[in-house]
Amino acid sequence: MDVTYSLLCALLFYSVTVFAQNCVPTFLNNEVEIELSNQKLTTTVTGCLVGNQLPRGNIDSINIKAQVIPSLNSGAISNIQQKFQLHIIHNEIEVIRKNAFRNLPRLQNLHLDHNHIASVEPYAFENLQSIEGVYLSNNNIDVIKKDTFVNLPKLTDIFINNNKLKKFDQNWFVSTPMLIWLVLNDNQIITALQRAAFQDLRSLTTIDFTNNNLSYIHPEAFYGLNQLGELSLGENELTSFEEVNLSYSSAMYRLSIEHNKFTYLSPRFFNAVRGTMTELFIQGNPLQCACVDDLVLWASNNNITLFWKCEEKEVYCVFPLTSENDCVKRAIGQFNSSLIESFRSDCTIE
Ligand SMILES: *[C@@H]1O[C@H](CO)[C@@H](O)[C@H](O)[C@H]1NC(C)=O
Ligand SMILES: *[C@@H]1O[C@H](CO)[C@@H](O)[C@H](O)[C@H]1NC(C)=O
Ligand SMILES: *[C@@H]1O[C@H](CO)[C@@H](O)[C@H](O)[C@H]1NC(C)=O
Ligand SMILES: *[C@@H]1O[C@H](CO)[C@@H](O)[C@H](O)[C@H]1NC(C)=O
Repeated sequence: MDVTYSLLCALLFYSVTVFAQNCVPTFLNNEVEIELSNQKLTTTVTGCLVGNQLPRGNIDSINIKAQVIPSLNSGAISNIQQKFQLHIIHNEIEVIRKNAFRNLPRLQNLHLDHNHIASVEPYAFENLQSIEGVYLSNNNIDVIKKDTFVNLPKLTDIFINNNKLKKFDQNWFVSTPMLIWLVLNDNQIITALQRAAFQDLRSLTTIDFTNNNLSYIHPEAFYGLNQLGELSLGENELTSFEEVNLSYSSAMYRLSIEHNKFTYLSPRFFNAVRGTMTELFIQGNPLQCACVDDLVLWASNNNITLFWKCEEKEVYCVFPLTSENDCVKRAIGQFNSSLIESFRSDCTIE
């Protein structure tokens, strides 16, 4: 057994209780694992986790896992000057209070996934000067309020997928100039994406709204997003993409609008991004067969990979009740309704 390995295995136990200033107690005999560059320590914390109680050495990450912690209160984690990752996952946390994370100037990533978070207070994430990612996936968040992510100059990733959000609003963010990933898949967002819905988040390259309840997108919703490369809107309730103006997004390479309720899509909707697009996902929509034909031809002429067919399904497009050779916008009464419904299920694409 070499020295490094035995150091890695060394588990030292000690215990700290902190009722410092600005600390509303969060922990009660909770086990905290501290990964240093060459060893792991486990400590028990009551009150707040404060930097000057931590062992000397380069802290890589602090992990608090699989315990019962009802809320992260003001000052829960504070005054740690080192560059580190913080994982507080699977702890049944329900609430994150304002200023739960205070004076952590080099905190890099904050993982809070797999808790029971229903509510996040405004200013819960504020002044984290080095933070790059905040991960809130797999919680019960139904509302995010104005001014929740504030003054995070290096934030690039925000993941709030698999929650219960009904609405997106860019006013959740204040001074987050580097945000590139906005990941909101698997929520219940039903409120339309309004005009210029992302105009304060212009560095976004990836937006994921897969598996929500969107039925309307304003034509100018994506105003100003000139870095946007990937837009995922699959598994929603969208019926028309006709007016959505993609011409701001001259970098778009992947657009996913599969498993919606489109009966009509025309190549001209995507002409604005024809030069950059490499992949377009439209499968699982009850599209008119004439439109599918047009799109297949257009994609092939423009070197775009079009995903349009579910492998295991025989029916992949719909013939309207009249003039079936024309790809035109039609009222829903122009289709066989039971056939339209059959497009909702999952599918493997080829
Ligand atoms: C969203 O869609 C899902 C699946 O289609 C449905 O079960 C749910 O009730 C919808 N939620 C809302 C808020 O409409
Ligand atoms: C789409 O956006 C561009 C700006 O990139 C603008 O010039 C154009 O008028 C818009 N199209 C429509 C139909 O509004
Ligand atoms: C078509 O796209 C592929 C990758 O998407 C690329 O490697 C190839 O060079 C492109 N062909 C043309 C003719 O543009
Ligand atoms: C509608 O589609 C269903 C399922 O494909 C079919 O059984 C039914 O006969 C169709 N109805 C009409 C009026 O064409």
